Amino acid sequence: MSPSARVRLLVIAVLAAVEAPLVFTAAVKAGDLFSLCKRNDPQLNECVKDSITALRATFKKGIPELRVPSLDPMVVPQISLNQGNGPVSITSSFKDLHIQGFSDVQINSVKVDLPNYRIDVDCHLPWFYTWGDYDIKGQILVLPISGNGPSWSNYTDVRGRAAITGRELVKKNKTYFGMEDMKFDVDVGHATIHMDNLFNGNKVLGDTMNQFMSDNWRAVYSELKPVINEAVSTLLRDVAKKIFDKFPLEELFPK
Ligand SMILES: *[C@@H]1O[C@H](CO)[C@@H](O)[C@H](O)[C@H]1NC(C)=O
Ligand SMILES: *[C@@H]1O[C@H](CO)[C@@H](O)[C@H](O)[C@H]1NC(C)=O
Repeated sequence: MSPSARVRLLVIAVLAAVEAPLVFTAAVKAGDLFSLCKRNDPQLNECVKDSITALRATFKKGIPELRVPSLDPMVVPQISLNQGNGPVSITSSFKDLHIQGFSDVQINSVKVDLPNYRIDVDCHLPWFYTWGDYDIKGQILVLPISGNGPSWSNYTDVRGRAAITGRELVKKNKTYFGMEDMKFDVDVGHATIHMDNLFNGNKVLGDTMNQFMSDNWRAVYSELKPVINEAVSTLLRDVAKKIFDKFPLEELFPK
């Protein structure tokens, strides 16, 4: 069975709680917020890559005009993961999961296919750091694990791949990128994962488990990866949707 088939993932992203205050938006133009690219530009991919790269400075403060919250740190209010009853069975949840480091993103490549409503972005991050309260119960490899409390992780040499798909959407005679999905897949070169207060605060067992997770970070990360992917996808999907819902394609990608 594929990992995704045995993973049941639930994200409750109460994004309203972390949204930036609304600034009066009626007249905001796409060109005020982004450097725009002409749709027939033979270098369209390069142009969009530069445009996203230039946006990194706004990741920390968000885009209040579009109610886009800060992306650095990003905050996922609640996320939980239930993996089936096989040899690996784990139930975990995180509250107020903060993800820091996204504003150092390097965009490697962008592929814009407007006729087919598809955009692919390949990027690299030197590191991202997460913290939040965890609750976990189950088994990692051969060891039982249980506990709840604060946790942090640092992931280095991170590669992210985003795929945005959509379809034509016409509103008031204007064509929009009707976003259907955005998937974000995160691979890491190394992960350091730490959980405080494992096993009801039993220090010996907790230290042993944290050491075990450091020594076996690849296996641990593969268990947590669906949480990270879904957390980041949920937030970036929301940002992309706010942009595509607000501005028609003729404004985002002028002729
Ligand atoms: C994460 O690890 C990288 C590489 O070791 C380091 O440069 C960075 O400062 C760490 N981040 C945090 C928040 O500790
Ligand atoms: C849409 O375009 C058609 C034909 O150009 C026009 O007759 C109609 O009034 C337009 N509708 C709106 C809502 O602008």
